[in-house]
Amino acid sequence: MSPVTSESAVTLREITPETAEAILALSVADSQKHLVASNERSIAQAHFEESAWFRAVYADEEPVGFVMLHDETLRAEPREEGYLVLWRMMIDQRFQGMGFGREVMRLVIDHARTRPGVARLQTSWRQEEGNAGDFYRKLGFTPTEADEDGEMWAYLEL
Ligand SMILES: CC(C)(COP(=O)(O)OP(=O)(O)OC[C@H]1O[C@@H](n2cnc3c(N)ncnc32)[C@H](O)[C@@H]1OP(=O)(O)O)[C@@H](O)C(=O)NCCC(=O)NCCS
Repeated sequence: MSPVTSESAVTLREITPETAEAILALSVADSQKHLVASNERSIAQAHFEESAWFRAVYADEEPVGFVMLHDETLRAEPREEGYLVLWRMMIDQRFQGMGFGREVMRLVIDHARTRPGVARLQTSWRQEEGNAGDFYRKLGFTPTEADEDGEMWAYLEL
């Protein structure tokens, strides 16, 4: 496989029995583990949550990350109209800082625009060392306020 570069094409792909191990093996740095759940945990949760939409992130043919949405429109009986939240987002520590996270968000935003009755994409981050707040601000997200758990919320009009 040719090496991944910042020019590599970023795609979102469904996880298959053949690729699951590689996606489960992706990880952020130890110093970032308080910021996002492991992919094991996310994929397990996804299988019990009707509103979960999740994909592996590839740079060319190399698995480099994972993204998951809470998409209320997937539920047979939505609890809130148009509710769409970026639930999990990670780029493996070996591939951070290469522009892949930004490209994933562009693809996720394109996907979000196809969801029925959805006007905004929400996200949140823990207000702790190394948080991704500036990453989301650079993508145009507007921070609103922190919830009772200290999680900062932000939204992007689609
Ligand atoms: C946050 C994360 C997904 C970003 O992915 P990435 O591929 O490293 O980001 P990119 O290389 O596309 O960076 C895009 C821009 O955001 C900035 N950026 C990325 N991560 C950042 C962070 N944690 N804090 C501040 N700025 C950040 C980059 O410097 C870059 O800025 P530029 O356009 O001015 O050069 C990745 O670093 C990660 O997995 N972090 C650990 C888990 C995490 O925090 N997930 C989010 C949970 S809310």
